[in-house]
Amino acid sequence: MSNQAVLSARDLKRDYEVGGSAFSKPKLLRALAGASFDLFPGKTLAVVGESGCGKSTLGRLVTMIEKPTSGTLTLDGKDVVAGLSNKAEAKQLRQDVQIVFQDPYGSLNPRHKIGSMLEEPLKINRPDLSAKDREELGRQMMAKVGLRPEHYSRYPHMFSGGQRQRIAIARALMLQPKVIVLDEPVSALDVSIQAQVLNLLNDVQEEFKLAYLFISHDLSVVKHVADEVMVMYLGRPVEKGSCEEIFANPQHPYTRALLSATPVADPRHKRDRIRLTGEIPSPIAPPPGCTFHPRCPLANERCRAEIPELLDRGGTLIACHAVEEGRNQEAAPAA
Ligand SMILES: Nc1ncnc2c1ncn2[C@@H]1O[C@H](COP(=O)(O)OP(=O)(O)O)[C@@H](O)[C@H]1O
Ligand SMILES: [Mg+2]
Repeated sequence: MSNQAVLSARDLKRDYEVGGSAFSKPKLLRALAGASFDLFPGKTLAVVGESGCGKSTLGRLVTMIEKPTSGTLTLDGKDVVAGLSNKAEAKQLRQDVQIVFQDPYGSLNPRHKIGSMLEEPLKINRPDLSAKDREELGRQMMAKVGLRPEHYSRYPHMFSGGQRQRIAIARALMLQPKVIVLDEPVSALDVSIQAQVLNLLNDVQEEFKLAYLFISHDLSVVKHVADEVMVMYLGRPVEKGSCEEIFANPQHPYTRALLSATPVADPRHKRDRIRLTGEIPSPIAPPPGCTFHPRCPLANERCRAEIPELLDRGGTLIACHAVEEGRNQEAAPAA
């Protein structure tokens, strides 16, 4: 039997009220319209899609920064949303799930030395440790992420972007989490530095058997790090499957379009380009039926009227009437 999920999400939804004033009612913005997935120790689920499709919202729900509007989230079988209303339980739950953001400069306090930032989570959560213990653990972690001992007493501005991301990763690891949400962790870095940070993430994942939720708009990065991929469009997962399968045999027209916009290293896999035309619709007033239909080359009447469900097709989940009806075959990229 394969190992058990450490975190499970079922039909997670998150709405926001936007606008609204003395003269108008606020409108409902459905940032996440129902996402289900499992995270496994030592494995990476990548979440991909264009800007605004709900990736960061999903990341905030998993990290318990915000509560879902509906749906369930379980960590080691425990109900997270219920647990958050109990202070002691919430503290434990939050230790187990950490997040690393795209811009570590925004999440690292510029006035604090690296050492004190690494020790801070221990100060709050590990009253059993002495100051000396904390420093010892902080220094160990700093070495693990490839920083030098003298860095311990430096401030964030004294580091490069790649080094700052190492610090953010070190801090996320201090409380021995089980899950780390990585929200565009290398998107702000030079390509040469990206590979180093991705290698570090890979090393610590193996060492600590971490489950990653890896959020990215960049499919060329995802291809190298993901075990599973979930493609999102306007708050909804539209295709989800193994990384291998998604890249070798994408089925949803949106996944195909995203991939054909990504430079593929392997020339044998050169595809006909499928251009994404038109704007991403507003999640405040999403199109009826399949929300991708205004941009989809395969859309027909049914697509304009009926929301497609995620259906299992040989292990990959796809929400597309055209795929279900076999109408995507004629538009398949030339082999
Ligand atoms: N706090 C918020 N209040 C109102 N709308 C929000 C809030 N956070 C995100 N949104 C909206 O939710 C949608 C999804 O946003 P986000 O999760 O940031 O997408 P992504 O990370 O994929 O770019 C967007 O339309 C965004 O404007
Ligand atoms: Mg985002």
